[in-house]
Amino acid sequence: MHRHMTRHPVLWSVVTVLLLGAMVTAGFYMKFSTPLPESILPTDHRPDLENGRVMYIAGGCISCHRGRGAAVEWPAGGRPLKIPGGTLAPPNITPDPETGIGKWRPIDFVNAMKRGLGPGGIHYIPAFPYTSYAWMRTEDLLDLFAYLQSLPPVNNRVERKPFTLGRLALAFWKWMALPPREFRPVPGRSESWNRGAYLVLGPGHCAECHTPRNTIMLLNRSRWLAGGRHPAEPKASVPSLRGLVRRGRYKDAEDLYNALKYGEAMGYEDLSSGGMGEVQENLSRLPDADLKAIAEYLVSLE
Ligand code: HEC
Ligand code: HEC
Repeated sequence: MHRHMTRHPVLWSVVTVLLLGAMVTAGFYMKFSTPLPESILPTDHRPDLENGRVMYIAGGCISCHRGRGAAVEWPAGGRPLKIPGGTLAPPNITPDPETGIGKWRPIDFVNAMKRGLGPGGIHYIPAFPYTSYAWMRTEDLLDLFAYLQSLPPVNNRVERKPFTLGRLALAFWKWMALPPREFRPVPGRSESWNRGAYLVLGPGHCAECHTPRNTIMLLNRSRWLAGGRHPAEPKASVPSLRGLVRRGRYKDAEDLYNALKYGEAMGYEDLSSGGMGEVQENLSRLPDADLKAIAEYLVSLE
């Protein structure tokens, strides 16, 4: 063995580097495929269904997970969702035990939303905007889960896209793409400004469309909300949400609030097409204080 090694020093160095590389890769893979443990959940949390409903609306879950036919009001999944390079069918997230998430534990749901990780260890395709939902507070996720579990179960099996190798690569992408922690209020800003920031950043996932991405699809954090590409129509651009008042798009926070609340109905045409229509419809159903908070936060972005 020893004589063999000295005879092929280059070969052995290459083998050693490859082995070390494989070990580091496997280590990273394991690290980013390990679900959060149940111990991160608060033990004394009593689910607040009304708050869960607000998170559901702000999160726009129904826009992607809407069912077909009689299940049109419920997130039974199965409708095609356009993504760059193809289509996906978002799954059934009603509490049906066989075809939905009825058998999930709260920690399974928290892992899906904060880590993009499914119960079987699957890495979710980020068309499911968990890179934003991961900013959400665990308590809000528990309320959202309780709300989902309170909806009528719909039996509707949705086949998952086979994407094996891609899903492996996602483990590494997620390591770069996921936020480092959940949202923390910014000191010195009002409670409502922070509420707006939270709703925009986390559940609202506004950055997924309104922030530019680099070549490996990571959000450019230095150009936050400065305008991006539409996920379904990569050629269509999404406008910037910075300087909305300075650029004369809206008079003030009140005007922006009206635009988000009433959209086309009050003549705000710029909120109607290209995916924003559904977002605006969801936003209009938020409690007024929350929508005003969103407007307050947005007009503060220069
Ligand atoms: C932009 C579209 C989109 C939005 C908005 C969206 N989802 Fe999804 N969601 C998806 C897609 C696509 C998948 C499947 C990903 C995959 O197969 O890898 C998914 C998967 C899931 C899963 C995993 C289910 C399973 O059976 O493994 C859960 C849970 C989920 N979403 C919950 C939610 C909740 C809750 C919301 C709202 C807060 C939401 N989603 C909003 C597109 C979306
Ligand atoms: C699915 C992609 C998508 C998401 C998610 C999204 N938007 Fe948009 N948004 C658009 C598009 C596309 C337009 C341009 C619509 C048009 O021109 O008709 C737009 C326009 C807007 C405008 C009008 C800008 C102007 O110059 O008048 C505002 C305000 C806005 N979005 C706010 C939000 C907020 C707040 C959120 C998060 C709650 C959000 N958007 C999430 C795609 C998106």
